[in-house]
Amino acid sequence: MSFKKTILITGGAGFIGSHVVRLFVNKYPDCQIVNLDKLTYAGNLENLTDIEKASNYIFEKGDIADTAYIQGLFKKYNFDGVIHLAAESHVDRSIVAPMEFVITNVIGTVNLLNAAKDAWKESKYEGKRFYHVSTDEVYGSLHDGSFFLEDTSYDPQSPYSASKASSDHFVRAYHNTYKLPVVLTNCSNNYGPNQFPEKLLPLFINNIQTNKALPVYGKGENIRDWLFVIDHARAIDTVYHEGKVGETYNIGGHNEWTNIDLIRLLCKQMDQKLGRAAGTSEKLITYVTDRAGHDFRYAIDATKIKNELGWVPSVTFEQGLSLTIDWYLANQVWMDKITSGAYESYYAQQYLNK
Ligand code: NAD
Ligand code: DAU
Repeated sequence: MSFKKTILITGGAGFIGSHVVRLFVNKYPDCQIVNLDKLTYAGNLENLTDIEKASNYIFEKGDIADTAYIQGLFKKYNFDGVIHLAAESHVDRSIVAPMEFVITNVIGTVNLLNAAKDAWKESKYEGKRFYHVSTDEVYGSLHDGSFFLEDTSYDPQSPYSASKASSDHFVRAYHNTYKLPVVLTNCSNNYGPNQFPEKLLPLFINNIQTNKALPVYGKGENIRDWLFVIDHARAIDTVYHEGKVGETYNIGGHNEWTNIDLIRLLCKQMDQKLGRAAGTSEKLITYVTDRAGHDFRYAIDATKIKNELGWVPSVTFEQGLSLTIDWYLANQVWMDKITSGAYESYYAQQYLNK
């Protein structure tokens, strides 16, 4: 079967990547979607069982940090575009082991940029596109009422955000120097089905269900701006097809919550869904030592993507959170396989038993 286009999606077995792969495989049957993933602890092919047999889907297991492998992959397939999501993504892990973040997030990204540049130069980049998926954490920590705009100066504070900022700079440098046709997005905190239970929401949903402590870092006053993952995937589709080459778009839900307010809302919804007495889950809240260098507030101004490309979130937070809880409750087998019934946050577990 011949396809109109072949698109490489990296990190497609992870949380956001799996939603992007599913959207593209289903929405673009005339495009071949190649999912390249190393299957680290965060990669899980069970996130994609519903589309794994689709005729326009191929999985390739490999490491973006392996130069020879990546060069070979670009020779094997004639990619028209790349949507690059593969990364080490958890801030707490970056505090404990930063080098993995340099290797995958920085070196891996430069490997992909080089391979795309080499493979595409003969065609003078005609019809090609390299889309780099990044985070709002590159802008640093807000302490006033302002928002992150596309031209906000970079000020990364954690090893994770420093590695993502570095990769963003390389992507822009390849556009400036070699005219590689790139687009970038910087998105706020995602939540939804298939998120690895080291991140706040799936970790706390699982702990509430299994009656384990909810480790709240510091006083729980830090603020995050939450977006439903399927809305992020929709935004990626929009920017991949309609974003202007060389441009950056911020993606966010205009949906700020202090951690503790969000956790209290989660506890309330979980009590209702599990048929427990009101206030039961809140008793699990346990304040633990703060994350080192914990960014205080992130908040995205998503006006540009709304005005220029017409993207807005499709679900309210109340709908998204309810859908998310329902998904985890209905997919306990998925969770048990990951946690083996015993997973606790990578970082907080050090403090819980003090
Ligand atoms: P995730 O950790 O759930 O998934 C990452 C995927 O990348 C996994 O499948 C993993 O196996 C794969 N991977 C890791 N190292 C690799 C390597 N060397 N080679 C090939 N594959 C490798 O991450 P996520 O939360 O889905 O984030 C995806 C992307 O979106 C990342 O670039 C992240 O920085 C960005 N992002 C995430 C959020 C969020 O809230 N989760 C928000 C904004 C941006
Ligand atoms: O803003 C986008 C970023 O959001 C992405 O780039 C990252 O890949 C993603 O992991 C996420 O980073 P955060 O550090 O904001 O997410 P996390 O779920 O780890 O934490 C959310 C907030 O909750 C943060 O303020 C720390 C706090 N927290 C987290 C955990 C895991 C707790 O209080 N207790 C916990 O156990």
